Amino acid sequence: MSRVAVLKGGRSLEREVSLRSGARVEDALKRRGHEAIGIDVDHDLVRRLRELAPDVVFLALHGRDGEDGTVQELLEILGLPYTGSGVSACIRCADKVLAKHHMIDAGLPTPDFVAFTETAFKQLGAAEALGEIADRIGFPMVVKPADQGSALGLRIARDASEVPGALVAALSYSGKVLLERHVAGRDLAVSVLDGQPLPIVEAVPEEGAYDFDARYEIGRTAFVCPARLPDEITARAQELAVAVHELLGCRDVSRVDLLLDDEGELHVLEANVIPGLTETSLLPQAADAAGIAFDDLIVRLLDRALARAGATA
Ligand SMILES: Nc1ncnc2c1ncn2[C@@H]1O[C@H](COP(=O)(O)OP(=O)(O)O)[C@@H](O)[C@H]1O
Ligand SMILES: [Mg+2]
Repeated sequence: MSRVAVLKGGRSLEREVSLRSGARVEDALKRRGHEAIGIDVDHDLVRRLRELAPDVVFLALHGRDGEDGTVQELLEILGLPYTGSGVSACIRCADKVLAKHHMIDAGLPTPDFVAFTETAFKQLGAAEALGEIADRIGFPMVVKPADQGSALGLRIARDASEVPGALVAALSYSGKVLLERHVAGRDLAVSVLDGQPLPIVEAVPEEGAYDFDARYEIGRTAFVCPARLPDEITARAQELAVAVHELLGCRDVSRVDLLLDDEGELHVLEANVIPGLTETSLLPQAADAAGIAFDDLIVRLLDRALARAGATA
């Protein structure tokens, strides 16, 4: 039996999702005989961790702080083993711009894009170059913050008149935005567990865009797992996900989001280092399809972190 601190909540926009992931993780750990203590992360995190002195920390903290390497850095400093990826992989994955540059340099397919900081718009007049950007990226164009999840702040601009509004929306979530080529196609997610791909989940939104609400309201998005795809495409998507997982240096688990276009080409959007663990989340569905029950998934992730603790003790 281990004493496990489950970090959840926090102040990110994905707080509610994280609270739900964390609660499920706590239940699973308790069922497996562990002592699980949930911590809703805020300014007294370090003090609470010191008091608690857990054997290991389970990270169910989505969004900023949880996924961008901040909390991982803190746990390294405190000498506490934790689940999932280390600091550098988190930094690479949380910044979509950085992750996409790594993919392009490695020859992995990701939609063409241009990225700017707020400074470029405010102080360098980048808005004047929107014509050139539109010529290169084309319409419709996806505008999204560089470091958010759950489709927050993401807009599709159908023509030039919609770009400024979309930029303002994205910039309200982040100091850096991407203008990305829109890929019409199917939404696929491939989770990678211990270096192995799990069955693919396809998300089919009931209506229109795959947005924040559609993701977390049961019934608004239909999930198909394993996705109905030709074997050859399944194999390619899974290989690509593992390649991205390795390229970005992910550990234990990640979820790679891809699009499959009408010509059968795959395009990687991003990799998530702390995938959702709610009832409607994709990683638990994928694990289930692979015959890995939720509790087993959680214990497996915990054991990986404990093994690292043993290795460094
Ligand atoms: N370039 C794109 N073309 C078409 N759809 C996109 C594109 N980028 C994002 N989307 C849609 O928005 C969803 C969320 O985008 P993603 O880049 O994975 O960001 P996040 O999940 O972090 O919000 C995708 O699953 C997809 O449905
Ligand atoms: Mg995504």
